[in-house]
Amino acid sequence: MSVAERAARERRLANAAAIVDRCRKCEIGAIRQNAVYGEGDACAALLIVGEGPGETEDRDGRPFIGRAGQLLERMLAAIGLARDDVFIANTVKCRPTFDDGVRLRNRAPTPDEMTNCRPYLDEQIEIVAPRAILALGAPAAKSFLGPKFSITKQRGQWFDGPSGIPIIATFHPAYILRLTGGEVEATKRLVWTDLKALRSRLDAPPSSAARADGAAQGSLFED
Ligand code: URA
Repeated sequence: MSVAERAARERRLANAAAIVDRCRKCEIGAIRQNAVYGEGDACAALLIVGEGPGETEDRDGRPFIGRAGQLLERMLAAIGLARDDVFIANTVKCRPTFDDGVRLRNRAPTPDEMTNCRPYLDEQIEIVAPRAILALGAPAAKSFLGPKFSITKQRGQWFDGPSGIPIIATFHPAYILRLTGGEVEATKRLVWTDLKALRSRLDAPPSSAARADGAAQGSLFED
């Protein structure tokens, strides 16, 4: 990747982030504290897509910086990736909330919010042109693979994503953090399998990526 190409991508991402900052297509655009455009390496081999910003992300304008983000960083570290090596985005760039009478609480993005925000995500994918996409959780995976996608049955499998970019889904780190008892280790083991498949795909030369199924080195990430 040339210095000029990297600079061009960074410029395009910065311009797009400024547009998202002014976006008011949805009501949550008026309620948010900050738009959370996404961040990371403009030339990353891996682009990660979460659901949407939470309270901490809304406050600071950065994706995955709360507890789920810390677990995501440990998941990445388990396959030899630092946060700065990847590009992190979400299906929506504003925090979806509802008022419970006392405070604003997180909720899942609505289909309309996801549709409104989709061009921003598509543009990020087009600019970064990653070799693989990791969808975290069912909403992110369904936004690429359709409403019938089952995170429990189809996580860990490769699919053709936007522009043919391979996409794989795994459980969302926030989901892992909500689990208790034996479910924690069992789920982490499944996620570890998915992460190894991802590592293998990233390690494989582009032409043989489709045959990549070897196991990556490393150990189960810690929560
Ligand atoms: N959960 C998400 O899906 N995205 C974030 O940015 C933070 C938490």
